[in-house]
Amino acid sequence: MPANTRITAAFPQDFVWGAATSSYQIEGGATPDLRAESVWDAFCRKPGAVNDGHTGAIACDHYGRMAEDVRLMSDLGLEAYRFSVSWPRVLRDGVGTVNTVGLDFYDRLVDALIARGIVPWVTLFHWDYPHALFLRGGWLNRDSAEWFAEYSTRIVERLSDRVKHWITINEPQVFIQLGHADGTHAPGLRLPLREQLIAAHNSLRAHGRSVQAIRAAAKSPVQVGWAPVGHISYPIDDQPANIDAARAATFAIKKQDLWNNAWFADPVCLGAYPQDGLRLYGSQVPKHPAADMDLIHQPIDFYGVNIYSGGAVKAGPDGPTPVPHPPGHARNTFNWAVAPQSLRWGPRFICERYRLPVVITENGMSNLDSPNLDGDVIDPQRIDYTRRYLLALHRAIAEGADVRGYFHWSLLDNFEWAEGYKERFGLVHVDFTSLARTPKSSARWYKSVIESNGESLSGRFGAPSGVPELDDLLASGPPDRYREPSAPTITPSKSS
Ligand code: FCB
Repeated sequence: MPANTRITAAFPQDFVWGAATSSYQIEGGATPDLRAESVWDAFCRKPGAVNDGHTGAIACDHYGRMAEDVRLMSDLGLEAYRFSVSWPRVLRDGVGTVNTVGLDFYDRLVDALIARGIVPWVTLFHWDYPHALFLRGGWLNRDSAEWFAEYSTRIVERLSDRVKHWITINEPQVFIQLGHADGTHAPGLRLPLREQLIAAHNSLRAHGRSVQAIRAAAKSPVQVGWAPVGHISYPIDDQPANIDAARAATFAIKKQDLWNNAWFADPVCLGAYPQDGLRLYGSQVPKHPAADMDLIHQPIDFYGVNIYSGGAVKAGPDGPTPVPHPPGHARNTFNWAVAPQSLRWGPRFICERYRLPVVITENGMSNLDSPNLDGDVIDPQRIDYTRRYLLALHRAIAEGADVRGYFHWSLLDNFEWAEGYKERFGLVHVDFTSLARTPKSSARWYKSVIESNGESLSGRFGAPSGVPELDDLLASGPPDRYREPSAPTITPSKSS
C-alpha cells in the first residue's frame, strides 16, 4: 500500500442513512376518537404481560409532537426516516371505511419530512394488528391476506405521490413466534405448530398481496421490500470451510419453531419452502393451493433486514458448529451479544442467496441511558456498538455485498414491546414523565457519520483524523475497554 494511503470508510455515493421507529412504539394518540385498538392495546391490559404494566397509550406522544420530532430528525442530519402506519388508526375495523383523521396524520408527517429533505420509508405492518380483525381470526384466517391488501391500497393511494419506498411486513418471525407460539407478544397465543405454520403462511400471502396492491395503486415508481429479522451465523475466521459452515447455519432450520430465516425468506425470494423445514415440520405443514407460492413470490426491489446480533460458527465433523461467545462478552441490556461480524456476513449471505439489494432496516443497541447532572445523555457504548457494526457493513460492501442503506433503531427511546420502557434504543433520550427529548451523544456522533458518508468512522469520536487498522476495529471480540492492555487497539495514524 502506498505511503500515507488513508483507509477510509466512505460508503457508496448514494448510500441511504436513516433511523427507524414504529407506530405503536412511539405514537400514543390512542384515545378512541383517534384510533381503534390493536392487539397490543389488549395485550398490555393482561396482568403480567408487559414489564411493570407499561402500555403504548402515550408512548413518546409522537402523535402530538410530530413536528418537533421531524425537527429533531433534521437536526440529526437524517437522510431518510422509516416509520410504520398504525393499521387500526387508518381503518378502525381493519377494513372498510377510512378514518380520515388517522390517514391525515401520516399525510402531514410525509409532508413535514419532505419539507426538510428527509425521504420517507413507510412500513405497512409493524405488529399493531387491528383488534377487530383478530376477533375474525387474525392471521389464521385466509382472508387476512385480502384485508392487508385492502389496507395497503388505502395507504398507497394517499401517500404514493410522495412516498416511493415501501416495506410490507416487519419481522414475521417475531410476530408469529412470540405472538402465536410463545405468547409473550400480542396477541399472546400459544398455538400448536400446525396453526403457527398457518398463521405464518397467511402472513407471507399477505406480504405478496400487499406487494401487488402497492404496485397497482402507486402513483409514481416505487421500491418495494420487506423487513424480516436476520439471525446471522458468521464464520469464526475467513477459512472457506468456516464460511460455508456459517452460510449453511444462517439458512438452516434445526428446530420445530419459527426462529429461522429461510422458512420465511425462501418462499418470498425463491418461491418455495426450504426442504429441511419441510422435513422437520413434516405433517404439520398445512396443505395449500399451488397458486399461494406464486402470490408469496412477488418480485421485490430490496431485501430489508433487521440485524442486531449473531453467533460465530465453524465447520465441524457433524456440520456447522456454534462457537460460544467468550465469558464476559459485550451485550446490550437485553442481553443480546454484541456481534459486529453479523453485519459483515449477513448482508453478504443474503445477497448471495436471494440476489437482491439489501437495506439494513434496523440495527442498534439498548442501554441504561439517563441524563447526567448537567442534563446530557452520554452513551459511549452505543457509539462503539454502531461504529463496529458500520465498519463491518462497510467491509461487506467492499467485499461485494450490494447494500443500499442503513436505518438505526431507533430515533427515540420508545415502548420496547414486552419490556415496556425498560430498554432504551434511541439516539434521542425520552423522559417518559415529561416526554422531553434529549439527543444523546450518539445522535451527534451519528450526524457526523452521515455528514461524512461514513468516513468519520475511521477516526476516534472527536478525533476524526485518526487512521485505524480496519481489521482491528472489526474484531468481533468485546469492546476495547474489556480487552487485555496488550491487545491491539486503534492505531492512531499510519505513515511510512
Ligand atoms: C425489532 C423490532 C423493533 C424493536 C427492535 C429492538 O425486533 O422490529 O420494533 O423492538 O427489535
